[in-house]
Amino acid sequence: MKVKTAKTAGFCFGVKRAVDKVYELIENGVSPIYTLGPIIHNEEVVSDFEKKGVTVISEEDIPKLREGTVVIRSHGVGRRIYDMLKTAGISFVDVTCPFVLKIHRIVERESRAGKQIIIFGDPSHPEVKGICGWCEGSCTVLRNREDAENFVPDPGRIPCIVSQTTFNYNKFKELVEILCKKRYDNNVLNIDNILNTICNATEERQKEAQSIAGEVDTMLVIGGRHSSNTQKLFEICKEECENTYYIQTPVDLDSEMFHHSSYVGITAGASTPKKIIEEVQEHVRIKF
Ligand code: F3S
Repeated sequence: MKVKTAKTAGFCFGVKRAVDKVYELIENGVSPIYTLGPIIHNEEVVSDFEKKGVTVISEEDIPKLREGTVVIRSHGVGRRIYDMLKTAGISFVDVTCPFVLKIHRIVERESRAGKQIIIFGDPSHPEVKGICGWCEGSCTVLRNREDAENFVPDPGRIPCIVSQTTFNYNKFKELVEILCKKRYDNNVLNIDNILNTICNATEERQKEAQSIAGEVDTMLVIGGRHSSNTQKLFEICKEECENTYYIQTPVDLDSEMFHHSSYVGITAGASTPKKIIEEVQEHVRIKF
């Protein structure tokens, strides 16, 4: 079987940095270690950490902690969480991805300046919750076309648009177009307040996945069940290649997937370890 694996498949810079940091803390004998939510959306990596004594906690657990080090993952958190950690007197290591931190600073600054903050993304995603947590006053999260169409601008305030780092770029352009048609005073919706904060890693991964999916007979998208960037990759690939499958490990591979296939494409979400990508690749090459 001919296989083409995306060069951009797997850990992005921010996730690699976070995972490496936790391994470094373990190696340095730091104990106990807590991560605020799973460090990445990958069950294998999270369970490996658990075996090494790393416990996943939620924000409700912070006031109960008496010792240890809390790791803030690459998704980032709102200002309130930093305050909670400081109040509890717990040491913490912040591995929020610098691209996410940049959005925090924009939202903090622009909301303080009185702008109406609009975030393109999924309101239930931790990254978006964290971004909202830096907004002075309320902010609006728009998930899709329908939300953008129903959005009522505040005519007295200048808008400021940012995006979840993993948002789809075509969707971003579509929502901007819808908002641009809304009535704003003095044409205030312009390049200065539409900030494309989609991470390049996501964009590059999505573009490469789309191009490979357009060439192959079967496309495999590897990633954790709860990984939003993997779900988006799947949607993009499915549009190009009807035979697209979402898998977590080689165990999910099935001969049915490769019926009439001679060319298979592989990509993976930002939380997928290199090891799993290589295993899937080998399995497809040898067994099918
Ligand atoms: Fe950061 Fe981009 Fe990854 S925002 S966590 S490098 S997808």
